[in-house]
Amino acid sequence: MLTAITRQVSPALTKCELTFVERRPIDLEKARAQHRGYEELLEELGARVISLPAEPELPDSMFVEDPALVLDELAVIFPLGTESRRPEAVSLAAALAKYRKLEYVKSPGSMEGGDLLRVGRRIFAGLSSRTNEEGVRQLAALLGPYGYEVSGVAVTGCLHLKSAVTLLGGKTLLANRGWFESGIFSGFAWVDVDPGEAHAGNALAIGGKVIFPASFPRTRARIEAAGFSVAPLDIGELQKAESGLTCSSLIFEAGGN
Ligand code: GLY
Repeated sequence: MLTAITRQVSPALTKCELTFVERRPIDLEKARAQHRGYEELLEELGARVISLPAEPELPDSMFVEDPALVLDELAVIFPLGTESRRPEAVSLAAALAKYRKLEYVKSPGSMEGGDLLRVGRRIFAGLSSRTNEEGVRQLAALLGPYGYEVSGVAVTGCLHLKSAVTLLGGKTLLANRGWFESGIFSGFAWVDVDPGEAHAGNALAIGGKVIFPASFPRTRARIEAAGFSVAPLDIGELQKAESGLTCSSLIFEAGGN
């Protein structure tokens, strides 16, 4: 069963980490409503949503993609790249232990799931302010025995690798190629973001659709022109917390428990 783990919005969201966007007031009720809309859309597109309770002390904890990577064979838990976010891994690991064997990347490695773009057995790992070479080395050592190849990719200009590039389907990537070392992605087709929509590289492909922020209409037209069906979603309030679409869920196949 396609399963999506999410987490309810923390009442502390207004104190979230921000790296590449300026702080603006966040309307918590609006943020919660937009996150509910995201969960409902995931359900419509075929996922069973497991919405974990909010973590009142952890502002960024709704971004469940960052503390872990879930593969068919195992889940890997990370030391997040910023001190305030490190405790998020504890309750997420407990939730994932029901579904997968757990392995750990350990300090001095640092890693966030937003930096991991998986295409089949290849994992592109952004080297960003949150993910370091040692984290990538440890992940490669953990996943090598399962047949995964992990490659580091330099990221500049945005928070995570997937802030700049995500998979639309098949071998087609949506990207702002100015923000990462794109040369490593040989054999892929590209849909480039509209030049006026620099932050439009993060989309979530699920259930035959591409969930995409309503705030980027010109890039949406490019995605549709490439043959993909878009489900637009307003996440304007969450974008103030430097959110994309992939970061608010962990999606994997699981049994019925
Ligand atoms: N606010 C998302 C992050 O900085 O991790």
